[in-house]
Amino acid sequence: EQAGKGEYDHFMLKEINEQPTSLAQALEGRIDPLNGRIALSDFEPGTFDGVDSVQFIACGTSYHAALYGSLALNQAGVHSTALLANEYSVSAPPIDDDTLVIAVTQSGETADTLNALRRAAAEGARTLTVTNVVGSTAAREADDTLFIRAGPEIGVAATKTFSSQAVMLTLLGQRIADDSRGEPPADLESLLPALESMPGKIDDLLEYSTAEAIADRYSRSEAYFFIGRGLGFPVALEGALKFKEITYEHAEGFASGELKHGPLALVTPETPVFAIFTGQEDEKTLKNAEEAQTRGAPVVAVCPDGHPAVEVADEHLRIPDTDPDLAGLVANVQLQLVSYHAADLLDRPIDKPRNLAKSVTVE
Ligand code: G6P
Repeated sequence: EQAGKGEYDHFMLKEINEQPTSLAQALEGRIDPLNGRIALSDFEPGTFDGVDSVQFIACGTSYHAALYGSLALNQAGVHSTALLANEYSVSAPPIDDDTLVIAVTQSGETADTLNALRRAAAEGARTLTVTNVVGSTAAREADDTLFIRAGPEIGVAATKTFSSQAVMLTLLGQRIADDSRGEPPADLESLLPALESMPGKIDDLLEYSTAEAIADRYSRSEAYFFIGRGLGFPVALEGALKFKEITYEHAEGFASGELKHGPLALVTPETPVFAIFTGQEDEKTLKNAEEAQTRGAPVVAVCPDGHPAVEVADEHLRIPDTDPDLAGLVANVQLQLVSYHAADLLDRPIDKPRNLAKSVTVE
């Protein structure tokens, strides 16, 4: 097993560091910067003609990627929702012939997700699976598949598969919007080069990250909060999930604007707040972070150099300047590193957290 980890102490750290490669693999041949359109040749031209709404179904980290994809699709003008697969049997929205249901599942074997996928198919939806595992049950059962090509992930806490899922869902969403609306979404000129440069930017981030020092400073806190807005919201949820999975400490993610509607009651000088800035109404997120700071909480701003939050926050985790569609994903890499180093300092068993399994095949 040690041999498989190479130079790293844990598979999780290895897999975090593999993200430049896994993302480059995911994107290879799938964007066509020459004519400014997304080819995504996994799908025939016009595959998504007529789709008028999209339902994403997923669990755990894949649900956060699904939420990311769903918000991006809404922003591209296509009606979509992300649903927890285990809630789907009691709360599925209505389906018709023009509904596309997308199962997002790393393993392709999660029982909750398979059940929801089967239910959607039985009701007449078109189905598509986004997965890492060729030949998995979800891949075999859906009408279409999109493989994220992240390579095997051994750590129970998903890292590289989240970033590859979210990137592929961003691309897929643009393609669905393009097919179903008959016009390319407006921001492609910024998105395509940003996608191309993303592996390199994450490579740099892995070098300059100060996440270990931040983890060292705060890993004896009472609780950890993560806030984000827009595409930063699913990243806040994922940041908190990763943190609780491997540190066993209390961590919660909130939409920035929700902080004042309840969670602020939990904020004290012993509860660091990680604020994610993606370029979508950042001034409001900064105001929310300041509300926490006023209650004594240390604020860690996850944002580019030169961002107004740097001046206000107690700490700064730097991310590269990039398209707002992708900024949350590079921020997530910093948060993965914070969780990893905090768990390491607390001496937790990082690759196999207590009570958790990589793939849950029971309901
Ligand atoms: C388990 C794992 C999570 C994962 C979830 C969904 O709970 O511990 O890390 O996100 O299953 O798995 P899937 O294979 O469907 O993405």
